[in-house]
Amino acid sequence: MWTIRLLRDWSVPWLQQRGIENPRLDADLLLADALGVERLALFLDAERPVVGAELATFKRHLQRRARREPVAYILGRRGFWRQELVVTSDVLVPRPETELLVETVLAHFPPDQQTFPFEILEIGVGSGALLCALLLEYPVATGVGVDISAAALAVAEQNGRQLGCWERMTLLGGDLVAPLAVAPHSGRRFPVIVANPPYIATAELDRLEPEVAVWEPRQALDGGVDGLTVLRRIPAAVMPLLAAGGLLALEIGMTQGDAVAAVMEAAGLQDVCLHLDYSRRPRVVTGWRR
Ligand SMILES: C[S@@+](CC[C@H](N)C(=O)[O-])C[C@H]1O[C@@H](n2cnc3c(N)ncnc32)[C@H](O)[C@@H]1O
Repeated sequence: MWTIRLLRDWSVPWLQQRGIENPRLDADLLLADALGVERLALFLDAERPVVGAELATFKRHLQRRARREPVAYILGRRGFWRQELVVTSDVLVPRPETELLVETVLAHFPPDQQTFPFEILEIGVGSGALLCALLLEYPVATGVGVDISAAALAVAEQNGRQLGCWERMTLLGGDLVAPLAVAPHSGRRFPVIVANPPYIATAELDRLEPEVAVWEPRQALDGGVDGLTVLRRIPAAVMPLLAAGGLLALEIGMTQGDAVAAVMEAAGLQDVCLHLDYSRRPRVVTGWRR
């Protein structure tokens, strides 16, 4: 008879032998999901028997994880900022690094000082993690999210609806700002524009762990030969859409700060600034339209 304790003890080495980096954490997340309980219950109820459908679900979860599918895709959800988001293999798994982009925008536009309605544009909205986080921090804001992937936009819609900010969201399919060039969206100006675009160099992508290289959508990650193909296009493309006094904030790879800052300055952005993560690596670049 399997119990929670026996399953935990058995599955950790099983996952470890299959190259999983955090076997204990992953086994616990998958087991808690199969049982429909919080992780804490695994400790409090260790001798509880696990049988039938619960056991079958846990086995299926383990088999998927052994094929290096990310836990977030197996569970169909992932925490980001203060929310839990739906995620599927059509979208990048939201990363903790991207929370620095949220923090940076909040630091420049403190939510308690934003009393007038304003619009946020996100290019490459993916799961909607970033746009939904910002809309929930700014109850007066509305947001436009663009993505080249229709499947990703469907996930962003699901998250907008689930998190209660869908009424304030518009999602548009297309390349960068192209959908904003046509009616009824042309002429809009945004005080805040954000993007976490694909920025990994193509050759580097194939060297990453299978969870990323095999499972995550390539067009969410692949930044071309030097990783900068999309990043290089964004500043000039968004300049006409940025309101006077508006902020552009971009997430970047840790070696890309100087190159992206130069592109932003060349596009006419001012007071361009690199923002460091907790390991003191530049991960966000900001610039203003003065
Ligand atoms: C790194 S993911 C970011 C997803 C989400 N914003 C986040 O932070 O988790 C980049 C997203 O940009 C989209 N994308 C890639 N190239 C694009 C382009 N040329 N125009 C619009 N979106 C693009 C991808 O489909 C993907 O959803």
